[in-house]
Formats: sequence, structure tokens, C-alpha cells
Amino acid sequence: MDKNNSMQNLAKSFEDYLFHNLPKSKTFHPYFEDALAHMLKAGGKRFRPMLLLSVVKSNKSLLIPNTLCVALGLEFLHTYSLIHDDLPAMDNADLRRGFQTLHKKYDEVTAILVGDALNTEAFNLVANASLSNDIKIDLIKCLSSNGGIDGMIIGQAIDCFFENQKLELNQLEFLHIHKTAKLIAASLKMGAIICEYDLQTQEKLYNFGIDLGLLFQIQDDIIDEICSSEEAGKTTQNDGAKNSFVNLLGLEGAKKSADELSLKCIKTLNTFDFNLKESLEELLLEYINRHK
Ligand code: IPE
Ligand code: IPE
Ligand code: MG
Ligand code: MG
Ligand code: MG
Repeated sequence: MDKNNSMQNLAKSFEDYLFHNLPKSKTFHPYFEDALAHMLKAGGKRFRPMLLLSVVKSNKSLLIPNTLCVALGLEFLHTYSLIHDDLPAMDNADLRRGFQTLHKKYDEVTAILVGDALNTEAFNLVANASLSNDIKIDLIKCLSSNGGIDGMIIGQAIDCFFENQKLELNQLEFLHIHKTAKLIAASLKMGAIICEYDLQTQEKLYNFGIDLGLLFQIQDDIIDEICSSEEAGKTTQNDGAKNSFVNLLGLEGAKKSADELSLKCIKTLNTFDFNLKESLEELLLEYINRHK
């Protein structure tokens, strides 16, 4: 099997799994079940599940089938964060993944509750995986700490609270590490937990994920500045009040930071053992160079 083929196959396995395991809620509510699935079916890059799966592929490929539900849990949690991020009280966006945002297509109550449901269901998916209980507890700890109070949530709280108030560079990094990088780092670490890599490798993957996640957010801020909503599939030119990298560093400054972080990520990638490096490289080179 050639390289591209194997990553494409992995992406396809995940997509098939997702479509067969959309969240269900068959009741007399006229549209809640459709709303639950809407943003998941809409697409997205599936970056976090693919990070997890590519780590597992690097040395426990037989465990991929048992890992798909963990990958789906990550995508549920991330999708919930997007649904809430788009709400009028947060970023007030109309377009997501090429479709109307959930509160626009349905209503705010539905968007809030679908987000809540996907958040809870993420942990149910991990808890039900065919993996050892010890591994599952570590996965749940990792997902909850990085997606929750000390992770994405505090990042989002700071992102919204400090609109129209300029943060210092170290505060800017804190914000973006928490709102975006920690979940990306957790995706890699969760793969390492499933592979039973030693703690040092887990930590190294996590730290690499923080750099990668920061790079990802800088690129996202550049997309907001330079892409149309149609191109991006989501509402852009929407960061005017935000502490985005583009607002604080300027477009050229943000691109320069992204270039520096890209180089750092490529350097770190080269220090991983052969299988891990090969597997991650296949997935990451396109992302690392995304803003060019
Ligand atoms: C968007 O995430 C929000 C950020 C954390 C930057 P993605 O760019 O991964 O969104 P999808 O999943 O591809 O829609
Ligand atoms: C959102 O960051 C990060 C999340 C935790 C969802 P953004 O607000 O920049 O994401 P987009 O640009 O709306 O996708
Ligand atoms: Mg936001
Ligand atoms: Mg947003
Ligand atoms: Mg953005």
C-alpha cells in the first residue's frame, strides 16, 4: 500500500465510522436528532481524530478499529466547541463547515443543547471503547483536562472576555495554547496512551502538539484575515475585536511567527522514532505549510 493511500484509507475508515455512529435521539422532538448530526455530517478537516489515529498507526495499527470511537469522541468534543463558539454570545457566526451554523438553521436553545450533548457523549464514547480500563481512565483524564477548565474552556473564556482589550504577548500565547493547542496536544497524547508509549514519549508528543496547535491557531487567524467566508466555509473577517495573532502582530508578523513555528515543528518531527515520524509526517506536512 503506498503512503498516501494508507492515510487516505485511515481518513475514510474514520469518516465511515462517524457516519455509522452519528448521535441518536429518536423521540417526538421534531428536529433534535437532525440537529445533533448536522455539524458532524457537514465535514471539517477531522484534524484531531486523524492526529490520534496516526499516532496509533505508528506502532499499534491492530488497535485502529478499537480506537475509532475514541477518535470520534475527540471530534464530538471539538464539534461541540465550534457550535458554542459560533453562538451569538460568543463569536456570533452564521457559517460553519460550509453550512449555516446550528443556531441559525435551528435556534439557540438547540445549538446550546446539541453542544452539551456532544460534550457528554464524547466521554461516553471513550468509556465504551474496547480498550483496557486503565488506558480508558488515562484517556478520559487527558481529554477532560485539556478540553475543560484548564484547557479549551478557560481559553475561550479569556478569548471572549478580553475582546477589545489588548493582551501582552505572553497572555496571547496563554490564550491560544488553552483555547486550541491543548486539545490538539491531547489528541497526540491520547494516541500515545493507547500505544502505551513511555511517559517521556507521551510528554514529547504533547509538547510537540502545543507547538503544532499554536501554529494551527496562527494559521486560523490568518485565514480569518485573508480568506472569504466562501473559501473558508466559515464566517471570516470576524476577529476584529479579538486578540488574534494577526491583530497583535500584523499579517506579516503572524506569517513570520507561523514560519518559525513550522520550522520548529519540522525539527521536532525529525527527532521522533522512525515509525512515529513517518506516520505524523504523512498527515502533517500539508498542515504545517498551510498558510503559504
Ligand atoms: C477551528 O478548528 C477552530 C480552531 C480551533 C482553530 P478546525 O479548523 O479544526 O475546524 P474544522 O474541524 O476543520 O471545521
Ligand atoms: C475557536 O477559535 C477555538 C475553539 C475552541 C472552538 P476561533 O473562534 O478562532 O475558531 P473559528 O475561526 O471560529 O473556527
Ligand atoms: Mg472564537
Ligand atoms: Mg470563532
Ligand atoms: Mg478563527
